[in-house]
Amino acid sequence: MTTTPLTLSDRTGGVSLQLDAANGEVSLKYAPPGEPLRLAATISAQGGARDAVSILCAAGAMAASTRPAGIATRLSRLPARAETASRVIGRRVQQFMEWLVASKEDTNYTYDLTPLNRAHLAAVISVVTERPITEIQGYLAEPDADAALQAHYTQTLARLPAEMAALADPVARWARRLGWYAVLRALKPRLVVETGVDKGLGALLLCAALKRNTREGHSGRYLGTDINPNAGYLLNGSYAEHGALLIGDSIASLRSLAQPIDVFINDSDHSADYEYAEYKTIAHLLHPGSVIIGDNSHVTDKLTRFAAETNRRFLFFREEPEAHWYAGAGIGFAFT
Ligand SMILES: C[S@@+](CC[C@H](N)C(=O)[O-])C[C@H]1O[C@@H](n2cnc3c(N)ncnc32)[C@H](O)[C@@H]1O
Repeated sequence: MTTTPLTLSDRTGGVSLQLDAANGEVSLKYAPPGEPLRLAATISAQGGARDAVSILCAAGAMAASTRPAGIATRLSRLPARAETASRVIGRRVQQFMEWLVASKEDTNYTYDLTPLNRAHLAAVISVVTERPITEIQGYLAEPDADAALQAHYTQTLARLPAEMAALADPVARWARRLGWYAVLRALKPRLVVETGVDKGLGALLLCAALKRNTREGHSGRYLGTDINPNAGYLLNGSYAEHGALLIGDSIASLRSLAQPIDVFINDSDHSADYEYAEYKTIAHLLHPGSVIIGDNSHVTDKLTRFAAETNRRFLFFREEPEAHWYAGAGIGFAFT
């Protein structure tokens, strides 16, 4: 067992704190200088979660910064407060452990959205597209009910080299991309551009939307850009008839476009400057009905800024993954 003792100095008024990192336990003792021990408490951080331990350490330090007369009160509340917080953290730790075993993904995680989160997504997209909420709810339900789409996903994975299939989960879970899909179904765009394709999960779903639109008499085209020549393997077969990939740096690929963009999705290099540069690069191809979707809006204000500069409104949808440790990203919408 590795024990990392951590003793706070005299000015903390007699508080000593010991961290047992191996067992995820924090022990606190309170003995005012020259007086007998008044309080001792040990708190388990359930399974050694590092986050929980650091929160408990911070709590101990906070208690120590209280005026001497209040220290005993603060410390006596510490176990109960830590218990409340560690219930939440413990749930995350459990999801993390399950994910480590059950999922194969090492980046660009996939999951379902919680039912409440889906309801909120429908409401937000109803505002963005000015379509009735019931219509949007119908669109959001389509991909999971589309057996051909799921079969396409599974069959594509089955054909992949083992080292590639080893990093993709066997069932397609769309996460916030469902919102992208519903926007396409609602607006029936003629041109959709997505920067950053990765495996092609978004590309596949977006082309599935265009496929349905085409069957309903509204054809449209998808263009995806990615710097990785192996990106986009999920986009093949009948879905690939609705789109194409441009391999190379996104900004360079975007510069080659000349036709109006109805829906633009930014999801490539996630640095703030690159994101903003993408918006600036396609600004002249946008029209008042264009919708710009940012996959970086949980991190930067670049789409908010671009929306203000181009006299568009902005909304942000925060996604909530169902039963996943990842806190989720979101969708930024710029629209008129
Ligand atoms: C988050 S992933 C895209 C996920 C995808 N949109 C989806 O729905 O799953 C980001 C992708 O951007 C690509 N990328 C990173 N920098 C890029 C750049 N400068 N130009 C083009 N693609 C880039 C990466 O190769 C990666 O495949």
